[in-house]
Amino acid sequence: MAQAIGVDIGGTGIKAGIVNLEHGTLDSDRIRVPTPVGASPQDVLDAVKQVLDTLGVSESRLPLGVAFPAIVKYGRTLSAANISKEWIGFEAEKFFEDGLGREIHFVNDADAAGVAEVRHGAARDSRGLTIITTLGTGIGSAFLYDEVLLPNTELGHLDRNGESIERWCAYSAMEREELTWEEWSARLQVFYRHVEFLFSPDLFVVGGGVSKHPEKFLPLLDIKTPIVAAVHRNSSGIIGAASLAAD
Ligand code: BGC
Repeated sequence: MAQAIGVDIGGTGIKAGIVNLEHGTLDSDRIRVPTPVGASPQDVLDAVKQVLDTLGVSESRLPLGVAFPAIVKYGRTLSAANISKEWIGFEAEKFFEDGLGREIHFVNDADAAGVAEVRHGAARDSRGLTIITTLGTGIGSAFLYDEVLLPNTELGHLDRNGESIERWCAYSAMEREELTWEEWSARLQVFYRHVEFLFSPDLFVVGGGVSKHPEKFLPLLDIKTPIVAAVHRNSSGIIGAASLAAD
């Protein structure tokens, strides 16, 4: 049975699991530890070691994919919105490979989630442009055209009054400002309308933890493009990273 390990490093939690590559499901429990405060490279590496240990795969030779909440180009992290600024221009893939003593595949977290949803989830068999957005600490995005990933799109950093729009309408904004579902949806509406106008997608898929409750906000959005919840919700990053590592 083909398997790979996926680790999803988020602004709030670090999650991992063993992925069944045929079905795009988890063959293990989903392990989670909180992201260390400040999210410096060494602290994040230690937390990743801890989840791999708990999962019992520290010595495993299965392919290992690691998803990360920043722009990732040729293994380097080029941005740091909700993590330590030390990650900017950092040789992150090499740092994890040296620290873990093995090869990994390193990818942006939303791009990983998008790959999972296109291969095994809500965007399976989709044609044209699918835009996956993850609503969590920040807003991540992935563009898939006829199932091919166009990496590092970063829609959460569209401008709103001189700030990244994710500050205003990520799920964390709803929690921080104690918004009602209606108030938060009104902000999402501005975001999705704008993205819809810019890119004319064929499908939106919404991921992140909040996609557990799609009925609370998706029906409140008035856009032309079909919009559906991610099938793998909080496990999309794990599944996509593992899936890419096995390619
Ligand atoms: C980061 C993205 C990431 C997203 C979701 C944003 O702040 O810039 O790279 O995908 O958060 O974690």
